[in-house]
Order: sequence, then structure tokens, then C-alpha cells
Amino acid sequence: MLTRRTLAALAGATALALSLAAPAFAQDKIVIKFSHVVAPDTPKGKGAAKFEELAEAYTNGAVDVEVYPNSQLYKDKEELEALQLGAVQMLAPSLAKFGPLGVQDFEVFDLPFIFPSYDALRKVTQGEVGKSLLAKLEDKGITGLAYWDNGFKIMSANSPLKTPDDFLGLKMRIQSSKVLEAEMNALGAVPQVMAFSEVYQALQTGVVDGTENPPSNMFTQKMNEVQTNATLSNHGYLGYAVIVNKQFWDGLPEDVRAGLEKAMAEATDYANSIAKEENDKALAAMQAAGTTEFHELTEEERAAWVAALEPVHEEMAERIGAETIAAVKAAVGE
Ligand code: LMR
Repeated sequence: MLTRRTLAALAGATALALSLAAPAFAQDKIVIKFSHVVAPDTPKGKGAAKFEELAEAYTNGAVDVEVYPNSQLYKDKEELEALQLGAVQMLAPSLAKFGPLGVQDFEVFDLPFIFPSYDALRKVTQGEVGKSLLAKLEDKGITGLAYWDNGFKIMSANSPLKTPDDFLGLKMRIQSSKVLEAEMNALGAVPQVMAFSEVYQALQTGVVDGTENPPSNMFTQKMNEVQTNATLSNHGYLGYAVIVNKQFWDGLPEDVRAGLEKAMAEATDYANSIAKEENDKALAAMQAAGTTEFHELTEEERAAWVAALEPVHEEMAERIGAETIAAVKAAVGE
């Protein structure tokens, strides 16, 4: 027989079960937190927004993608840790930021003058070499999904940067890549690793003298307002690997994962199709703003840059892996 006490206990248990079930209903969407460090109005920012839109459509609303731009959630180094811990599910760090994770091969993308064009680069990122590089992330609990372009970097400072001698003693902010460190050292500059979110202020206050970035990043962070000179050197490439927490990805229902793969393939095509134009537009906007003087290298100046930076390839061969460098150069057609 049910006593009054048992009835009360049962009622309590039912209420508890309901209260536990309710949030489960409310939360039954799969949430993908996609964190990144740049502005929404950049190739990566727009690629992430496109992925959000397509992912939600192709999974019929089963997935909710939340994009957090501008280091809102995490800065460069923290975001990789957050991904591994599962605090966020998706990132698109620059290829120059995988060294601290122990995957140094990606620094091959930082070698000066290694890619003469976007087309040359795509032979790597859309071919076997690109695939085998992404596979190296699996050991770290990370699945690599795609490569997204930004563009070719320009150098900036508060003094003209025409020849390698102009870099002597300048403190230059770099991303956390040993190849970029070697690049700045080869120019006689003093490299300083710093999170992207801190660069504007560091330039403004003189903590560093200059930096390198594609025009889209320079413009959307207003770095042109605190740099009087820039050189259109296109001396190196900056692009991204879109990555997910492996355990999260492997645990998704198959149909959901298929929808997300389709969304990622289309968002990748979109991001890569707008990257050059976004950078051209940003450069034009900075030229119009008139706060920075932009210098085009003469043939002779360019030859001097190439000669000064050439030794970096040899110097970094052991760190990156001679095989990786050879595979990239073969794909590019050197
Ligand atoms: C940088 O730190 O300069 C870039 O990697 C930022 C970015 O994500 O484009």
C-alpha cells in the first residue's frame, strides 16, 4: 500500500525527473562553438559565418553553430587548449600557430617566398600533402577539416622598409612560429611573439615597432592607423586550418556529420573564393585612408629580400622536416 510518505517521495522524484528532462529538451541541439581571433569582416570571419549558415541548414537545425570572433572567448594559445579540452569545438588558427602543439610541419607554410601565388599554394592545401599534414593532428585529439586562405603578408613599421637593412634592430611582432622568428632574425630585426589581440595596442604604445600580416588583418584591426609605412612584399603566406575536437567529431551521429562535411566543403570554397578580393579591398581602403605610405618593391629590392631570406629554408629544414619541405616544393612545382 502506498503511504502518504511514499506518495510524497514519488511526487518529488517525478518532479526531479521532469526538471532534469526539461533542460535536456531545451538543449537537444548539438552546439558547435567556433572561436577565432579576427574580425567578422575578414576572409576567416566571413567563412565562419557561411559555415554557421550552411551547417544549420544542412543538419535541419540539429546543429547550432555559435561563432565567437575577435578573441572574444580565447586568445591564440588558449583557444588551442580550449579545443583540446572540449570547451570549444571548432577553430581556424593560422598555420603558423601549430608549433606549440608539437606539430611543426605546418611551419612550412611560413617559409619566405615559398608560394608564388594562390594557385601554387592550392596545389598543396587541396592535394595529398595538405591531407597528410592535417592527419598529423589526430594524435593531438584534433581533426583537421579544411584549409582556408587569407593571403600574402605585407610588412609594416613606422619607418620605410625598402631593403633588409631597414629592419635592423626593429622589434617586430610575429605569430608563434619558429620560421617567422628565423625570418625576422635573418632581416636583422628582433622578433617578438605576441597574441593577435594584443598587436594593435603594442604598436600604438611602441612595445613593438612593426609587424607582418595580410592587408585584411591589418585594416580590420586598424593597424594602419598606428603604422606610417608598409611594404607590399608578399614575402609569405598566411592561411588557416579549420579544426575540430576529434572526440566530439567522431561522436556525432553519422547523418549530422555528413551535413557538416557538406557545409564545410561549401564554406571552404566560399572563403577561398573571397580571400584575394577581401585583401585587395582592404589594401585599397588603407591606401585611401592615407595614414600609411605603401611601398612597392623594385626588382632590385625584391632580389635583396629574397637573398636575405633564402637561408631560412635551409636553417629550418630540420625543424619542419626535410621531407615535408620537399613534398611542398614538389607540389608547388619547384
Ligand atoms: C595573426 O596572429 O597575425 C593571425 O594569425 C591572425 C589570424 O588569425 O589571421
